[in-house]
Amino acid sequence: MSDQRSSCSEAERNTVFNGLDNAVSYSAQMVAAYRALESEQEDALFQDLLAESLAGPAAMEDARLQTPEWIKGEGSAGGQKRRRVQYSRMAVRTKFIDDCIAQSLTSQEGLKQVVLLGAGMDSRAWRMPMPEGVSWFEVDMADVLLAKQKALSLLGAEISAPAGLDACGQLAPAHASALGQQFSRYPLRPDKWISFEANLEGDTWQKELKAHGFRPEIPTVWVAEGLLMYLTPEAVDKLLAGTSDLSCPGSTLVTMAFNEETLGRDDLTVGDYARTQAWDILKSSFKAGFPDKPTQWLEHRGWRAHQVLTYGEIAHQVAGMDSQYSFDVKAPGIAGRRVFFITASPTSQ
Ligand SMILES: C[S@@+](CC[C@H](N)C(=O)[O-])C[C@H]1O[C@@H](n2cnc3c(N)ncnc32)[C@H](O)[C@@H]1O
Repeated sequence: MSDQRSSCSEAERNTVFNGLDNAVSYSAQMVAAYRALESEQEDALFQDLLAESLAGPAAMEDARLQTPEWIKGEGSAGGQKRRRVQYSRMAVRTKFIDDCIAQSLTSQEGLKQVVLLGAGMDSRAWRMPMPEGVSWFEVDMADVLLAKQKALSLLGAEISAPAGLDACGQLAPAHASALGQQFSRYPLRPDKWISFEANLEGDTWQKELKAHGFRPEIPTVWVAEGLLMYLTPEAVDKLLAGTSDLSCPGSTLVTMAFNEETLGRDDLTVGDYARTQAWDILKSSFKAGFPDKPTQWLEHRGWRAHQVLTYGEIAHQVAGMDSQYSFDVKAPGIAGRRVFFITASPTSQ
């Protein structure tokens, strides 16, 4: 395996992220970069060993430049390595969603499905402990999936999808689909991993999901992390209703969303992106937010909320951060709940 990996030239490695040139695709690399930075910490909330490769060098550099010293925990005081005083937003978001997925997968016996909507450079399928019998689906745009499969291939991660890529991440004949058997450096944790392209603003994703082996009669964990703000309000409505329609009892939705007012603000700063030009471009891609009280709104779209939490609340839950640290969105003149973390079950349940 290492021979195949080392035979990839620098030039081939450099082609991995070619074509990922819009702000939304780049945001998938940026969030992976923040996960990589968290994984470098001594007291990391999780270890994402694939994140740096999935982020790529440009996003890693951007993330390092933007992350303040007090999150990185770098430097020393009196000969002692300084402890950081606050976890990054991305760290607590990742850990919260990890915990929700793990809890859903272990709370009942039997087969399970996980569907990552807008999966981006997520590496949970290689890093999270998982019970037997899990089918894992990843849905995203073609450019992101192609870059991800190339990066995974170079990493030596097991992928079972018929990606048609050779060990150097080059497009190979369609029948070259046995990558999963060649590589085991990062073995897949679910029994099945299926990654396919679909536009989640379109009407065909449900059909495509079923065509890729999804079974509505099996409990499903739907994850929409960092996705819904990029879809039109109509598409969000349809996506939520569509996921509910495909959910049997025992299914769960885990998601996060900005509120409407926040998305309309030009002076919005949020998360670790706050100081960047990339954030300004990304902000213009935001299309949909949730109302301030999302519970009833979600109910009309097929989901009964169990938890509606703020950044501060999840930071407390997963990292014991106390409330003196503000994790919520800041913009002059607005205060309070601006980003929601939501877990829900189908209303039909
Ligand atoms: C900020 S990234 C989040 C990725 C991942 N969920 C995570 O948290 O690491 C947003 C992802 O949503 C995907 N996305 C945005 N609009 C989409 C659409 N209409 N259909 C499918 N995927 C979409 C993007 O390609 C990108 O990978």
